[in-house]
Amino acid sequence: MDKPLREAREGQHSLSLPPKVTITLHVNGVACTLTVAPWTTLLDALREDLDLTGTKKGCDHGQCGACTVLVDGRRVTSCLVLAIRLEGAQVITVEGLEKDGALHPVQQAFIDHDAFQCGYCTPGQIMSAVALISERRAHSADEIRELMSGNICRCGAYPRIVAAIQQAMAVMGGKP
Ligand code: FES
Ligand code: FES
Repeated sequence: MDKPLREAREGQHSLSLPPKVTITLHVNGVACTLTVAPWTTLLDALREDLDLTGTKKGCDHGQCGACTVLVDGRRVTSCLVLAIRLEGAQVITVEGLEKDGALHPVQQAFIDHDAFQCGYCTPGQIMSAVALISERRAHSADEIRELMSGNICRCGAYPRIVAAIQQAMAVMGGKP
């Protein structure tokens, strides 16, 4: 491409991009101010801007659950949420579950039941399980399976995941 044409195209390109936006999210109890492109997902903001890589990117299309985090106490697939829509929201990732050096009961239960193989789906499974227990909607193994069906495990660790959630439910008394 000749130089004048390239400069004209580059000029057009930069003019067409919307400006970045500065937002504040409360992530794992810490207020985090970041400046992101308007199309940045919560998942990318967590991983790329805040270096919280515990949350995994699987499908990036809302289909696998690997990116599940809690937003204002509810589980969401963070690849489907734009960060700029979450100004002031409370976000909890797997890094935020441990308290005073002690693992969350769901984390401990996953270890006790060896509820993972490659571990890639595990942070999403754990976050979804934490919310499931606080929702108090599951009262049987079948209901746990149904309400965890948005979290896909390619290794097939499902029986151990269900057992881990049952243990955590017993420990927590169905409380968050
Ligand atoms: S990465 Fe978000 S649901 Fe798969
Ligand atoms: S443990 Fe490998 S994908 Fe679930």
